[in-house]
Order: sequence, then C-alpha cells, then structure tokens
Amino acid sequence: MEAKAIAFESLREERLFPPPPAFAEQANLRDPEIYKKAAQDPAAFWAKLAEEELVWYRKWDKVLEWEPPFAKWFIGGKLNACYNCLDRHVQTWRRNKAAIIWEGEPGDTRVLTYQDLFREVNKLASALKKLGVVKGDRVAIYLPMIPEAVIAMLACARIGAVHSIVFGGFSAEALRDRINDAQAKILITADGYYRRGAVVEAKKNADQALKECPGVEKVIVVNRILKTQISMEPGRDLWWQEVMEGASADCPAEEMDAEDMLFILYTSGTTGKPKGVVHTTGGYLLGTHVTTKWVFDLKEEDLYWCTADIGWITGHSYVVYGPLSLGASVLMYEGTPDYPDRDRWWDLVEKYRVTVLYTAPTAIRTCMRWGTDYPARHDLSSLRLLGSVGEPINPEAWMWYYKYIGGERCPIADTWWQTETGMHIVTPLPGITALKPGSATFGFPGVEVDVVDDVGNSIKEGGGYLVIRGPWPSMLRTIYGDPQRYVDQYWSRFPGMYFTGDGAARDKDGYLWLLGRVDDVINVSGHRISTMEVESALVEHPAVAEAAAIGKAHEVKGQALAVFVTLKEGIKGTPELVQELKAHVAAKIGALARPDDIFFTAELPKTRSGKIMRRLLRDIAEGRALGDTTTLADPGVIAELKERYAEEERG
Ligand code: WTA
Repeated sequence: MEAKAIAFESLREERLFPPPPAFAEQANLRDPEIYKKAAQDPAAFWAKLAEEELVWYRKWDKVLEWEPPFAKWFIGGKLNACYNCLDRHVQTWRRNKAAIIWEGEPGDTRVLTYQDLFREVNKLASALKKLGVVKGDRVAIYLPMIPEAVIAMLACARIGAVHSIVFGGFSAEALRDRINDAQAKILITADGYYRRGAVVEAKKNADQALKECPGVEKVIVVNRILKTQISMEPGRDLWWQEVMEGASADCPAEEMDAEDMLFILYTSGTTGKPKGVVHTTGGYLLGTHVTTKWVFDLKEEDLYWCTADIGWITGHSYVVYGPLSLGASVLMYEGTPDYPDRDRWWDLVEKYRVTVLYTAPTAIRTCMRWGTDYPARHDLSSLRLLGSVGEPINPEAWMWYYKYIGGERCPIADTWWQTETGMHIVTPLPGITALKPGSATFGFPGVEVDVVDDVGNSIKEGGGYLVIRGPWPSMLRTIYGDPQRYVDQYWSRFPGMYFTGDGAARDKDGYLWLLGRVDDVINVSGHRISTMEVESALVEHPAVAEAAAIGKAHEVKGQALAVFVTLKEGIKGTPELVQELKAHVAAKIGALARPDDIFFTAELPKTRSGKIMRRLLRDIAEGRALGDTTTLADPGVIAELKERYAEEERG
C-alpha cells in the first residue's frame, strides 16, 4: 500500500512529551488503567458513564443491542439533548454563567448566559411548534457562525425535530440537494454575514436553492446584516424577530428515546451523492460529553474555543453538544483569522483569556507561514491545552503550535475522528498520554481501534487500514434513507469491522499515525471532498467531455484539488476556460471545492476496463516517477500528459 512510504518517515519520530506534572495533577482523567478497565467490558464502561454524566427521564432497559452492523444503545432510555445542555444548568448557579461569548467579524460582541440561551431556545422551540413542526420533522439550517445557529440546533433538539445543518460555504445547488434529500419542512437562514469585511449574501443563495425545494413550507431569516436589501417571499419567509415575538419562553423538552434521531449531517463519500449521516440522541450525547471532559479536560472556569464552523461535525460535537452539556463557556467567532489582520485569533485569545483552543492543521500551517510575529504580539499565557483536528498534523506544524502558541507548556490533543464516529476516536488523554509530535496516539477507552492489512489481519507494527472493531455509542446509525449504502460503505470492506477509509500505521510503541484517506475522498484544508462530486460537476459544463479529479500534496492545505479535463471536439483549452471551469465547480458545490489546478489533456489514462487511473495522475501531479503502467490501455497517453503537465507547471 502506498501509505507505507509516509509511515516510514513518521515512525522515526523519537521526541516524547509526557504530560507536564502540573497538568497531570489537575487533569479530569488521571487513571492510566482506564484503557484496560474499559476494554474488559466496553458496554458496562459506557453504561456507567451514561448514568453518571447525563440526565435521563427514564433509565434504559438494556445497554447495547448489536446486530452487526446495526447498533442500538441504551434501549428504552429516555432523555433530551437540549435538556442536558441547558435545563440542568439553569437549575443551578450556572444559570448566570456565560454559555456563549460571541464576537462578530466587525468586532461586535454578544454574551449569552445559560439563562439567556435557555430562554431563546425555548422561544424558538415554541415558535417552531406553532409553525407545525412536530417530533421527527427535519429542519434545515443554513447559518453563519452566530449564536442563532446554536439556538436553532438546540430548539430542534428540544422538540425532537431533526436538524440538518448545511455549511454556509456550500452553494445553492448543494443546499438544494441536502434540503431535498432530508425532506426538510423549514429552513433557517440569515440575510448574510461578514467575511473579510465584505457581506456574503446567504439569503440569495437560499432563494436560489428554494426554487427547487417544494417541501419547504417556511423560511426563518435572521437579520444579521443591518442595511442589506433582501427579498422576502410573502407567506413563506419570516424574520426571526417576528417569529420570536410573543413566542412562549416555556416549551418543555420532549422526552426522546435514546435511539431517536438527533440530527442528519451530510458528508462527502466516494460517489457523487453526499451521504446523510444519521446520529441518535443518547449515544451521541454521551460520546461528545465524555470526550470533551477527558480530552479537552474542560473545567468549570475554562474558556473554551473551537474554531470549527457549526456546519461541520466538529462544530456540532465540540462547539455545541459536548461543551454545553458540560456547562462550559464557549467562545464563538464569526470571521476569518486574517481580518482585519493576521493576528485576529491571537487577539481573541488574549482578549477573552481563552484556556483551551481547538483548531485544524491547515490553520496552524497558515499561521506558520505568516510568521511568529503575529502570535508574539499577544499574551497567550492563558492557554493550557491545545487541540488539532481534521487532517494529519505534520511534526513540524505540531512543534510550531506547541512552541509559539502553547508556549511549550500546553499538551496537544491531536484528535482523529469523523462525521460518522460522532466523537474523538484516536486521541491522547492529556493527563496520561506521553505525546509524539504527529501521532494521534491511541484509541479512546471503550473503543476498539485497530490497524489491519488487506485481508483484515491486525498489524502489530507497520502500515495498513484503520478500522474499528465493534460498536461505540456515538457511531452513525445509518445513512439517511439508504441503509444499504451504510452497510456497503462502512461494514463490507472488512467483515465485522467499521472501515474508516483512512490509512494508518502503528509504531513499535503502539502509537497510531494517520496517513490520510485511501479512497476517492480527498481532504482539502480539513474539508472532505469527493472526487466524484467534482467530476460530475465538471462534466455538466458544456465544454467538458471527461474529468478526473485527484488530491495533490499541498504544503498548507494538506491536499489541493487538481483536475485533468478532456474537452469536447473543437473546443480549445484556454486560460479563460480554466478560470471558467474553476468558477463552475465553485458554483456547483461551493468555494471549498474550487480546484487549484485544471489541466487539459487529449485523453485520460485508463485501464483496459475503462477505469481512470487516478493514482497515475497523482504521480504526475506530484512529479513522482511513474510506477507500473502495463495495465494501461494506451501507455502513450502518459508520456504526453507528463510532458504537458511539466510545461504548464513551468509556464
Ligand atoms: C481526516 C472531521 C488525521 C480523516 C472530524 C477522516 C484526520 C476525515 C484527523 C474525517 C486527524 C480527521 N489526523 N486525519 N487528527 N481528523 N481526519 O468527517 O481522513 O469532516 O477520515 O470529520 O478527516 O473528516 P470529517
């Protein structure tokens, strides 16, 4: 497997960072035996935590029912995720504690205490009910990073409606497809939001999408931008303030079954159609709660900041459900790290005295490139723990983060997980684990993570595929509307095991090193993009005959998107067309999928059975010597491609 080459280098990493004694002493989790104890009886381990950490209306009858690959956790148990995030805190002194400390990109601020959040959520929940939303209905949310996003999520959870959040950077078409797949009845969006000083008009995109969403009955629009002129469709569109006015602030939380759906979140798979990952109430909440407590070591007095957008799983699990169920104070920021200047994040850390910071390697590498002056301008001494997520962190970026952001005092939790896993799966426990820069270390207690070879045999030392043996509470339950795809995608590659789609290696000390995706998913700046999705977007353009998309190694983004395109007869590959095609993909999917490079070629390398050889294309794009090309239908294609590619790179 090609991943082995990467593994070799990482495995030479000899530096070891044991937990600083002062940190270890105060850590929420200090028992190194936890792994062994959990492994003895994982179901009992989780059940004990469920009892201690969450509030239930009714205790479960049975902890786990496992009919591979379908799992049910806490059968018969009743609870409400919103109750666990709000009601239980407002019944204590915490009602006056800041739940959300928010800053907009222009510098405007808002603080919502738990009581404030509780009131707003209750009102929106009442309002949604009045609009006819009942338990089980789907509500689509297309909002920027403003407190209303959290209010909307929790209001859905409160009444048992299923939220389906679509990242604000997705295009109108992407939004349309997700709304329709989930058959959402309501859309909650905003007039716009701020991005690098400019206004992004979210409602315009939403209107475009809604032209082809017959199921959407009402649209609730948050007024984020003061002076914009947007169109409101009478009878369908309602301003948030209007809806909230007079809505009852007393809307009791619905008793939900542990296995009732909490949300759907779409993610890219290996085909063109995004998958609606389904998470349920009890197991998901337990997983996010416990990992937040142990991995981020969250304490009552922490100010915790996760930079992820609410539109991704990281925003769901570690901006909202995990920290709020713990009663933590969460910082939320609307904008980009470089507005008005490249020290905005460090300014925020200093201003609010952030103690725990969770971000992505791409952001760290970007800051690295900007230089140490920006963080050096600020007092970052409040930080005590750092986290990383979304893509492999290279040892160099790890060391930079450790030194220049963490002041060589903060443990780094490199957390490997997925939309599907709901919670951290491979991660250090910062009070216990000695860290190696670039390694996500070990499987979380109570989850059986393994590295296996091609046929599913466990690999003690070396590279292979990352799998999870058996169920864990916060695992996805299915793909919305497509259980067969759930079975095929995750549980068929290695019988009886959950296949992550990632390559991984285990070193002599048992540390795990993540090696990136081994399927047709690429990871650009921590965002999952399906190569198929990009290809189908391109072939919809009238000039394009065929397209092959690949991920190419990129210093900052981890991977960048490169596309090889053959044009229809008589069409010339001009620089203007390159720009047009890039814009076309951005319009179809979203700016995050805009290709870095587009190369025109007379033909694509294919096997004799007609399969495009993406690996070869990657070799070409990354300037590597080519491997075996004997399976190619027409080996001549490669020589031509290589030459043209080199030419375009030079030019
Ligand atoms: C990748 C994001 C290496 C991986 C939480 C996975 C990582 C995909 C890490 C899931 C990490 C995430 N080290 N790779 N710490 N965290 N990944 O669903 O390829 O957006 O399969 O979830 O991101 O992306 P998703």
